[in-house]
Amino acid sequence: MTPTATPARLGVALGARAYDIVIGPGALAGTGREMVAAGLARRAHVVTDSNVAPLHLDRLLAALDAAGIASDSVTVPAGEESKTFDGLQGLLSALLDRRIERRDCVVALGGGVVGDLAGLAAALVLRGVDYVQVPTTLLAQVDSSVGGKTAVDTPHGKNLVGAFYQPRLVVADTDVLDTLPRRELLAGYAETAKYGVLGDAEFFAWLERNGAALVAGDAAARIHAVRRSCEMKAAIVAADERETGDERALLNLGHTFAHAFEAATGFGAALLHGEAVAAGMAMACELSARLGLCPPGDAARVRRHLGAMGLPAGLPPPPPGGWNAETLVRLMGHDKKVEGGRVRFILVRGIGKAFVSRDVPPAIVASLLADAAQAV
Ligand SMILES: NC(=O)c1ccc[n+]([C@@H]2O[C@H](COP(=O)([O-])OP(=O)(O)OC[C@H]3O[C@@H](n4cnc5c(N)ncnc54)[C@H](O)[C@@H]3O)[C@@H](O)[C@H]2O)c1
Ligand SMILES: [Zn+2]
Repeated sequence: MTPTATPARLGVALGARAYDIVIGPGALAGTGREMVAAGLARRAHVVTDSNVAPLHLDRLLAALDAAGIASDSVTVPAGEESKTFDGLQGLLSALLDRRIERRDCVVALGGGVVGDLAGLAAALVLRGVDYVQVPTTLLAQVDSSVGGKTAVDTPHGKNLVGAFYQPRLVVADTDVLDTLPRRELLAGYAETAKYGVLGDAEFFAWLERNGAALVAGDAAARIHAVRRSCEMKAAIVAADERETGDERALLNLGHTFAHAFEAATGFGAALLHGEAVAAGMAMACELSARLGLCPPGDAARVRRHLGAMGLPAGLPPPPPGGWNAETLVRLMGHDKKVEGGRVRFILVRGIGKAFVSRDVPPAIVASLLADAAQAV
């Protein structure tokens, strides 16, 4: 059953750094009120991107104004290219040009790019000012806006320079997803399904029944999915804020494969991160099945659902020249999650039962990829 469309409030239990996540249709209009309630009734500097600004910025500025919060805004070019040292420097300069003060607040209105960039700028400017996340993509609502990971990309790789810096408030308005291109929505759906596969079989079954309605625009389904995802992320972050244990690592289910697929296709529009995660998750389940750890029926169910949603459920569409298993294995060795030279995999004992493994024989990964490459 799909619950009714009532806004939800969750807490991220991080002691002195605890904060609320407000989820619901129209929540954007209450952002100023929520900020006042959270003790953030100070001048706000809204950071957004060139796609989101014409769609949602005015309503956010009006919401801040209505709560008596003075504001200005900075718009960065849409796209991952803004998440660089140059982009960061430009944003820091813009905030300093606006005479940002220590007690002001940065508000990130956008997807994961804006959230990661504005969060890092907030961590750095004046040695740290408060910030609020107002995520506008499904990916940002279910994943990147919660948990305090901020970063920019460098020529060495994605997200290699950043900080753990928690927001003071997250406001996820499920209505803003109405303007999101379908492909971006589906990419975010892959990260939503990830929560089911990694830790909640019931949620996965719910997604099997309601995923299509969610993508088609069903408000109650969107709220339920964002809420359940945020609940799980909040619990994981509260248990392992800085990924020193294995809990937070589970969020990387499918990501070791995904990063190799993204690297091989140039980290661009050819393959969105969420699409790579769908493919990676299918491969991680298949790997688990080959290792005799997961019932083959569960791996097949994950593949079937991702495929039914229109996401890659095996190797994604190949780059020019096709997939090369050896190249992919090599790229996996470059993943940020490599520890002492060993690639860390998140495997499953079934849907909802993920765990960390550091001793997957590389030959099995290579043969899995070679077989999959044959099948493309
Ligand atoms: N910090 C974390 O924990 C974390 C987790 C996962 C991903 N990330 C990062 O998030 C980034 C990806 O985030 P993303 O998928 O949200 O990408 P994104 O921010 O680039 O947004 C995707 C596209 O949608 C547009 N857009 C955003 N909201 C819109 C709306 N409501 N209507 C219409 N268009 C809209 C954007 O302008 C962009 O073109 C990556 O850089 C990734 O590294 C961070
Ligand atoms: Zn991801």
